[in-house]
Amino acid sequence: MAGAQPAASIELTDNAREAARRTAPHVTIRGLTKRFSDATIYDNFDFDIPRGKLMSVFGPNGCGKSTLINMIAGLFPVDAGEILFDGQPLSQIKFGYVFQNYREAMFPWLRAFDNIAYPLRVMGVPKAERITRVEKIVAGLNVKIDLNLYPYQMSGGQQQLVSIMRALIVEPEILFLDEPFSALDYEMTLFMREQLQRIFVETSTTTVLVSHDLEEAVYLSDRILLLSRHPARAVEFVHYDAPRPRTPGTMSEADFISTKAHCLEIFQREVRKG
Ligand SMILES: Nc1ncnc2c1ncn2[C@@H]1O[C@H](COP(=O)(O)OP(=O)(O)OP(=O)(O)O)[C@@H](O)[C@H]1O
Ligand SMILES: [Mg+2]
Repeated sequence: MAGAQPAASIELTDNAREAARRTAPHVTIRGLTKRFSDATIYDNFDFDIPRGKLMSVFGPNGCGKSTLINMIAGLFPVDAGEILFDGQPLSQIKFGYVFQNYREAMFPWLRAFDNIAYPLRVMGVPKAERITRVEKIVAGLNVKIDLNLYPYQMSGGQQQLVSIMRALIVEPEILFLDEPFSALDYEMTLFMREQLQRIFVETSTTTVLVSHDLEEAVYLSDRILLLSRHPARAVEFVHYDAPRPRTPGTMSEADFISTKAHCLEIFQREVRKG
């Protein structure tokens, strides 16, 4: 009988450890400093990105939204500071990145299938498995795209879908999206928002979305990071916990309207300071 006790306490410890892991930030940014020539974009910036949330970054033009996710994703070097993922450097994690300009992000000489599978090829995944994984992701998103088409044969929306599937194919721990819908028409934007929400509901992947559309940012997000003009400060970290799936009707709810109005007020205050 005495032997049962240590087993129970080990289990409790494991549960406690898992609970602590779930509530710990996914990404910790400490003392981040970034300059371009004379302009200081970030000066000793600290921030925690929560795990398993969809977080939007919103702020005035040129405040440093893209620079921030580019630094977190390791695409831009930092001048000082540290960015850790569960205490580990970036090289230890799998992440997906959707660029704002999908036209430049596609490989024009590769068909849609090979664009989506490209990260798997780089990782040395065998061809048979690459095919299975691409088929799975296409079926999961329920998109009707001819995967034999080259980028120039696809619409903007189709290219952006391919770009999003390429980011998801690695089953990323974190997904970065820089204004992913800005080049799409309204119908395709609405469709893509729903796709993104569906992916998020299914996977709970930590997601960082840069958006210049406040309505979209609030609609899709659990958290909205409002940045000031540079050197960028986190002016406020707004919580929006409306249940999912959210629908167009969500945008008429009092909580949505007041959250959006609050963000807009802060944004306008920051813009006026410029
Ligand atoms: N590679 C670069 N070289 C020099 N300056 C840069 C570079 N990238 C960005 N900047 C400058 O850094 C500042 C922040 O740029 P960033 O692209 O991060 O802004 P943003 O918030 O994404 O803006 P937008 O809303 O226009 O997309 C801007 O003043 C920009 O001119
Ligand atoms: Mg930008």
